[in-house]
Amino acid sequence: MSSPAPPDDCEGEGSGGRSLSYGEAEYWDARYVEEGGAPYDWYQRYDALRPFVLRFAPPASRLLMIGCGSAHLRMDVRDMSMFPDESFDCAIDKGTLDSLMCGVDAPLSAAQMVLEVDRLLKPGGVFILITYGDPSVRVPHLNQPGCKWKIVLYILPRPGFTGKIRRHVLDPVPLTERGRLPDGFVPEDPDSHYVYACEKMQGLTCSASPTVERQGEE
Ligand SMILES: C[S@@+](CC[C@H](N)C(=O)[O-])C[C@H]1O[C@@H](n2cnc3c(N)ncnc32)[C@H](O)[C@@H]1O
Repeated sequence: MSSPAPPDDCEGEGSGGRSLSYGEAEYWDARYVEEGGAPYDWYQRYDALRPFVLRFAPPASRLLMIGCGSAHLRMDVRDMSMFPDESFDCAIDKGTLDSLMCGVDAPLSAAQMVLEVDRLLKPGGVFILITYGDPSVRVPHLNQPGCKWKIVLYILPRPGFTGKIRRHVLDPVPLTERGRLPDGFVPEDPDSHYVYACEKMQGLTCSASPTVERQGEE
């Protein structure tokens, strides 16, 4: 089953019809019990994401799937201390950071998650973040002091979008030096999904600004 629609606000329905926030663990626990483990694709189906997984997580990679929800291993993404430093080649998040952004203390939660992902990745490892957040609202969270990412951005229309896409969706969209979309760039689908491929730069770094791979920009 596929759910192309991102949470366009932060409210979902909990038990007894009570409104709960996507930022609350209670919401997700209730939802997974209700669904009885039925598969559910948020945002994009695997066939659309497969090229990114193959590109950034070759078959032998040690891969961390963040926020996979109903899995048996339960862990808060803000504290993944059961894993040692630099133990993964790739980490993939689809929708978890977005959920944290609905919670209380969202900026703190986002910072904790990003710093944990940075800690767990080997140098040169890649964090693939799939989100409905455009660079103006996601790059600042990726840009934690102590993290240095080389970010490459892709923009995918939501499944079922019938408008014309003027570019190849597997081509990166250039980012400005500040990590924003180029002036005048408007995604064809206003409900697009953003795929940030964030490579953890080698060596000990401490940077307040991300390294953004710029294309077509002087
Ligand atoms: C929008 S769903 C996406 C689920 C899954 N990643 C996918 O793409 O199908 C958000 C997921 O984030 C998980 N989540 C939310 N807050 C979390 C937290 N603090 N720690 C771990 N997982 C969390 C929820 O359990 C839920 O599975």
